[in-house]
Amino acid sequence: MTSSTPGSTTGTGARAASDRNSLTVGADGPIVLHDVHFLEQMAHFNRERVPERSPHAKGSGAFGVLTVTEDVSQFTKAALFQKGTTTDLLVRFSTVAGEQGSPDTWRDVRGYAMKFYTSEGNYDIVGNNTPVFFLRDPIKFPHFIRSQKRLPDSGLRSAQMQWDFWTLNPESAHQVTYVMGRRGLPRTWRHMNGYGSHTYMWVNAAGEKFWVKYHFHTHQGLEFFTNEEAAAVAGEDADYHRRDLFDAIARGEHPSWRLSVQVMPYAEAADYRFNPFDLTKVWPHADYPLIPVGTYMLNRNPENFFAQIEQAAFSPGNTVPGTGLSPDKMLLGRAFAYADAQRNRIGTNFHQLPVNQPRDGVPVNTYMFDGQMAYHHSGAAAVYAPNSTGRPWSDETGPADNGWEADGELLRSAYSLHSEDDDFVQPGTLVREVWDDAQRAAAVAQVSGALRDVTGEVLDRALLYWRNIDADLGARIEKTVTGEA
Ligand code: HEM
Repeated sequence: MTSSTPGSTTGTGARAASDRNSLTVGADGPIVLHDVHFLEQMAHFNRERVPERSPHAKGSGAFGVLTVTEDVSQFTKAALFQKGTTTDLLVRFSTVAGEQGSPDTWRDVRGYAMKFYTSEGNYDIVGNNTPVFFLRDPIKFPHFIRSQKRLPDSGLRSAQMQWDFWTLNPESAHQVTYVMGRRGLPRTWRHMNGYGSHTYMWVNAAGEKFWVKYHFHTHQGLEFFTNEEAAAVAGEDADYHRRDLFDAIARGEHPSWRLSVQVMPYAEAADYRFNPFDLTKVWPHADYPLIPVGTYMLNRNPENFFAQIEQAAFSPGNTVPGTGLSPDKMLLGRAFAYADAQRNRIGTNFHQLPVNQPRDGVPVNTYMFDGQMAYHHSGAAAVYAPNSTGRPWSDETGPADNGWEADGELLRSAYSLHSEDDDFVQPGTLVREVWDDAQRAAAVAQVSGALRDVTGEVLDRALLYWRNIDADLGARIEKTVTGEA
């Protein structure tokens, strides 16, 4: 049979002889060493995978556009948030604990990572489908993720290990309550909300600073799976959420979300009733109402999953003028972690890949130099700053315009408590004031099931943890677990 025209090529562009038959000595003889095309195929295949993300390994995403419909210029000068501006974006949704092949419908928090290709460089909001998190000090994060993944000997996941970690870290109660509720099983990614979760900074043109929280509310409506539905789907189609998003966009059904922010004037952080930088807390909307900003829509599927989704590199450290971080210790830990993970996972110059580059027309003048797979380069320009050759370099001095005040003795300590700070107050409010009877009954069944294989002191602590969240709910869980119900 003749090869199809024009045929494949080698990586260096020359015509490849055959993708069907290797070069042998006679029809049945050995393969020869100079069949370079064959050798290159074998060698490249051995290097096809990059390490999966740890955590958030399983996910997918799509491209879209943010349209700002409201005037929020009194809070931020960021170009992407000015009324009438449209900005291309990439979103990647994920589960946290599972590996690449794990089912999309296992109970878990869902990642909600966004990259905005703004006229001032890329801005990333790397959040979740819940407004809070399990922890408030980043030094605990690697321990947390390990406790949710697999046992060192059997390689199995372990409820005992999960509950041991959660109950020894009671600040997890709010997020655990969310995950044990309906949000732990979203029906699709299109039918869930997203949250920046952390408190971030906005700075306006006059230099005034504000604390903000991002909310992305789904226009498709919130929808969830029951445990039974999720288990059945997990068995039938491990990629259910990935497929749902891809197929919907391919059909021309473009999901969209409303972007709103909660804004806290800078000075109010000092004595707000909850520490506003504690990631385990929300700001009740009665204190800081939602302010509408705009909407975003997903309208374009990836053309290549590996190049555009697997190699996508999000980081909360990627900010643009008019935005900033905050004293949230978790956020500060994350500002380091992501790019470091990506240098390991993708390679030193991951930021040069098309999906991670700023959009056309945004100049890049970085002194990050050479390294594996350098592609964009600065030619013969000076490789050091300051220099007297005319290559621009930066020289801001004085207070950072998106900074804050911090002056104290170096020490190791929990956050200072504000008047109403307590690990169990907000999860208790969620159970009593947000959930209805059906959601409370479902949570009793869910938590009791999740505690099925938990024993001894860890079980005792878990039952106390739930009584602390809500006395009645805790008592019902205990009765179900001990078989008295
Ligand atoms: C100190 C705390 C945390 C650390 C050290 C941490 C670290 C990481 C690392 C290393 C990755 C993999 C990045 C990559 O390989 O590209 C990751 C992924 C991710 N993390 Fe975190 N994380 C932390 C907390 C959080 C929190 C609080 C949220 C949400 C509010 C979050 C949301 C995500 C998401 C959505 C992804 C997936 C990003 C993507 O789709 O590529 N993480 N995290």
